[in-house]
Amino acid sequence: MPAKVGERIAILGIGYVGLVTAATFLKRGHNVVCVDVLKDRVAMINDGKSPIFEPGLEEELEQGIRSGRLMATTDGITAARCSKFIFICVGTPSMPDGSIDLKFIRSASKDIGKGLKGRKGFPVVVMKSTVVPNTCEKVVRPIIEKASKMRAGRGFGLACNPEFLKEGEALKDSLHPDRIVIGGTDDRSRSAVEGLYKGMDAPLILTDLNTAEMIKYASNAFLAVRVGLSNEIANICSAHGVDVYEVMKGVGLDKRIGPHFLRAGAGFGGSCFPKDLKALRAAAEKAEVSLNILPSVLDQNEAQPLETIKLLKKVLKGLKGRRIALLGLAFKPDTDDVRETRALPIVKALLKEGAVVRLYDTNRAAMDNFRTFIKGKTKRVIECGSIEEALKGSDGAIIQTESKEFKALRPRDIKAWMRRPVIIDGRRTLDPHLMKRSGIVYRGIGWKNR
Ligand code: UDX
Repeated sequence: MPAKVGERIAILGIGYVGLVTAATFLKRGHNVVCVDVLKDRVAMINDGKSPIFEPGLEEELEQGIRSGRLMATTDGITAARCSKFIFICVGTPSMPDGSIDLKFIRSASKDIGKGLKGRKGFPVVVMKSTVVPNTCEKVVRPIIEKASKMRAGRGFGLACNPEFLKEGEALKDSLHPDRIVIGGTDDRSRSAVEGLYKGMDAPLILTDLNTAEMIKYASNAFLAVRVGLSNEIANICSAHGVDVYEVMKGVGLDKRIGPHFLRAGAGFGGSCFPKDLKALRAAAEKAEVSLNILPSVLDQNEAQPLETIKLLKKVLKGLKGRRIALLGLAFKPDTDDVRETRALPIVKALLKEGAVVRLYDTNRAAMDNFRTFIKGKTKRVIECGSIEEALKGSDGAIIQTESKEFKALRPRDIKAWMRRPVIIDGRRTLDPHLMKRSGIVYRGIGWKNR
């Protein structure tokens, strides 16, 4: 049965995924109740404010509150009792062995089960959080069935509808997806969720729960492997005086390969790729499946940021006592997210080499978040309030992310501010010809570097 506009949807867990999911359903005309155990977050939502930065998100939440179609609460049981759809969007933090911790999934499932007890009308529980295969079937389902005294596929529906959101473009990705994946215990569950996406112009995959769970992991693994392989090819290119950006242009024109996720650099970071690869590795180990590719990609990603240090050391002939600016602390531009950022191994390596590090990110919140990694640990890391302050008197600079502000750097400013105009770019942020003509030493991973 297709869903009507104006369905009541509960979102359990108002982190990144939950908030973007809430905004998407608000935009599509539904009523949303957000649930979280964190009272501060709930209060922020009820004030129409977003606890995280994501373009367009706060506007949607604010409008939702103003129109009376959005509210937030800490009471998951009541929210589940009053909603047609209940989305699980809680976090799945990593355990020391890389496997995902399901404690929030378990407690959300318990609340949902209690809320569903005695309910009529086939409410549907939908998993949005990224979970390894068999989580919905073997963990969520029994908890809800026990607490609700109902059976999945009879009294309530159970589905898995993974998200494929890139930070910085999450709302756009959610409203215009490449595909919509809906796994379910039965046709009725799947078709109910399908109704929520009615009219969206995207291929639809209707499948079982385990396949839907695996599609998410396989997609991220595939993308991470592409980036890892591009980085490895970049390192070969460096050694042979070949430009990896030109190489990847040629590679990406092959329709079987395509142009995306071939940009080499200092490695991948963020909340998904490293964590999901580790979770998949742990799930494989548990099932006694031996892996070759995924562990290598993770290892390669640890070593890759150090390529910037090698390049810098070569130009400056050692880094002891050198003042080095690090531009870009978040894991990618236009975000405040520093999770698994490649800036951290770069800072650690610079400190190990005896350098003094001058940190700067265009996004102030990224600077604040990064501070927690280094606070009180050393006096050799200095936070700078502007790009000029970071570069002033520096012997070298490493660009870790390609923010618009870094792209706009002018040769004359670089030369006026820096003691030695040496820039190592983890991306290709600036124009190499212009830099060379201006007498700036400008090197990068996988470039000709001559
Ligand atoms: C990713 C997936 O794209 C998304 O579908 C999933 O749901 C969550 O994980 P995100 O982590 O926001 O999204 O960032 P993304 O833009 O995919 O980049 C991930 C990392 O790979 C970043 O560190 C980025 O700099 C790096 N990357 C990406 C490259 O180094 N080269 C590329 O060509 C692309």
